Amino acid sequence: MSVALNLDQPSQPQKTLPHHALSPELATRLATPLAIGTVAVHSRVLQSPLSGVTDLVFRRLVRRYAPQSMMYTEMVSAAELHHMRKLPRVMEVDPDERPISIQLFDRRPDFLAEAAKKAVDQGADTIDINMGCPVNKITKNGGGSSLLRDPDTAARIIETVSAAVSVPVTAKTRLGWSEDDINAVDFAQRLETAGAQMLTLHGRTRSQGYNGTADWSWIAKVKQALSIPVIANGDIFSVDAAIECLEHTQADGVMCSRGTLGYPFLVGEIDHFLKTGECRTPPTVVERLRCAQEHLTMLAEYKGKSGIRQARKHMAWYAKGFDGAAELREQLCRIESVDAGCRLLEDAITVISPELCRHPPLKTAIV
Ligand SMILES: Cc1cc2nc3c(=O)[nH]c(=O)nc-3n(C[C@H](O)[C@H](O)[C@H](O)COP(=O)(O)O)c2cc1C
Repeated sequence: MSVALNLDQPSQPQKTLPHHALSPELATRLATPLAIGTVAVHSRVLQSPLSGVTDLVFRRLVRRYAPQSMMYTEMVSAAELHHMRKLPRVMEVDPDERPISIQLFDRRPDFLAEAAKKAVDQGADTIDINMGCPVNKITKNGGGSSLLRDPDTAARIIETVSAAVSVPVTAKTRLGWSEDDINAVDFAQRLETAGAQMLTLHGRTRSQGYNGTADWSWIAKVKQALSIPVIANGDIFSVDAAIECLEHTQADGVMCSRGTLGYPFLVGEIDHFLKTGECRTPPTVVERLRCAQEHLTMLAEYKGKSGIRQARKHMAWYAKGFDGAAELREQLCRIESVDAGCRLLEDAITVISPELCRHPPLKTAIV
């Protein structure tokens, strides 16, 4: 038997977490809107930019469960934008999609300013500058995390882009280039002085890539040193982790990243908890697979054949936590059509143990 999932309706809240909720002072502070310059955001949980993932379709899914959260486009190359006549698909934003930030990367302030103007025309509420990407292709041209080693240019970028657009300009960066070269506090202060209206800090260095554990203690130090909002990023995989991170860092919000892969429910779960003190019932395995079917269908409608190819990895991320999941993932990675993908998922749903059609128990322990 298949279980219908109404994706328009977030799951209902269940019960209050017992202890270890946010401290009263922090809860009070986080109950106010997040002020990014002149933009007020009514959620303290943000969906990160994820290249190859956070397209318009993915954001629609996340927004169903977290309608007030700030979302980011995938990073957009300011250089490519300069040479292209047509706007790239990664810059497409739903007309009613708010709040939305368009993230740009490059090292040239003038290119970034030109790109920022186009982003504002597209409907961006804020412009975010990528100062954290560790990928060689980006850093060898001086963009992404290599700006950590060139704070003068990074500051000039913020000044130039801020002067070019009327919306707030923000930055997302890391702790430093390497463990021997952590400069997050100085770097962040330079960006604030240059006019950045918010800073998101990923608690890893460039040389760590995505390995090891995010070090939230540096985020706490940066938060103490700045007046603009600081958003903590790195290893936010659950409501528990978000609360622990907020307490530890006293940050103004958290940004979810890999925790949302195959799980567009996470931002909404954390947002709901911060607003109500209650845990939203997590989706069942069947509900997750239904969401995968919908994600695949939407991607194909939006991007055609390339959408189906892109959907393969998403499908594999959804297919977890039940007998036969590994085999299903292998098959999903080869799908050539929406029908084939939906059929594979439907077959899995029909044989899934009745237990997995039920909601998992709420996790209440907070570390
Ligand atoms: C597949 C993937 C794509 C990413 N793309 C971007 C991007 O376009 N812009 C950006 O600032 N960070 C990007 N990141 C970094 C994440 O936004 C985030 O900072 C990082 O994953 C740390 O958070 P986590 O430990 O919760 O995953 C990407 C990460 C992954 C795994």
